[in-house]
Amino acid sequence: MRTFATFFACAPVALAAAIVPRAGSVPDGPWTAGVWRQPIDDDVFFTGNAINASGGKFWVNKDTSAYCPDGIEGLDCTLYPGSRTVFAGGNNTVSLDVSVPGGQQVYVAPDGSLSYTTAHSAFMPNGSIVTGFSRSRSEAFGAPIYWGMDGRSWLICPVGEGEPREKTYQLFILAGNQKEDCLLTGVRTYTSSGPDAWQYA
Ligand SMILES: *[C@@H]1O[C@H](CO)[C@@H](O)[C@H](O)[C@H]1NC(C)=O
Ligand SMILES: *[C@@H]1O[C@H](CO)[C@@H](O)[C@H](O)[C@H]1NC(C)=O
Ligand SMILES: *[C@@H]1O[C@H](CO)[C@@H](O)[C@H](O)[C@H]1NC(C)=O
Repeated sequence: MRTFATFFACAPVALAAAIVPRAGSVPDGPWTAGVWRQPIDDDVFFTGNAINASGGKFWVNKDTSAYCPDGIEGLDCTLYPGSRTVFAGGNNTVSLDVSVPGGQQVYVAPDGSLSYTTAHSAFMPNGSIVTGFSRSRSEAFGAPIYWGMDGRSWLICPVGEGEPREKTYQLFILAGNQKEDCLLTGVRTYTSSGPDAWQYA
């Protein structure tokens, strides 16, 4: 019985489940998100490395892809450097913190990839999930705020070659905690200013 309890005490999934939300303790306003991973069994450590939006998906170790249209009267693109990926919401739904009319919705595609809608379009593939996101404050030291979805786990899946901590990973949030070649991770959020981008591309 003891081994059993010890196993679960160490499993990232159990860790996520043990986070007790404190009502009202999660700050409102825009936030950035980062991968937080302190593994026991491998050396792929991350301490809040930014999750960046690019091409409709989310990544670690990849630049943010943002866009601001030229020549629109009254639109000052210097206000939108697009140097960070900033989110808004987190209580059930999440969006990208952008100024483009219509906004950009964050959703989970049928393959479990964290995704966002393109500007000026609400299109999502059939079977996409938009609701069920939450942010909750952990009681752990520093009271970090975790982002998640009930019954789902975050995974980072390597894309291409490189050193384990330097290559690019794509973010997935899956029911179940395994996917070939992917690593379980936690995702923390950090209060930020925003918007930083007119739209993400
Ligand atoms: C996220 O994107 C920004 C802007 O392109 C870049 O400076 C930063 O290094 C990226 N972060 C990661 C972890 O790749
Ligand atoms: C989340 O939204 C629900 C419904 O609007 C509300 O009742 C609840 O208090 C909100 N929770 C937080 C932590 O803001
Ligand atoms: C979307 O999925 C539902 C349920 O699987 C199905 O009934 C519907 O026809 C699908 N719609 C499209 C446009 O594929």
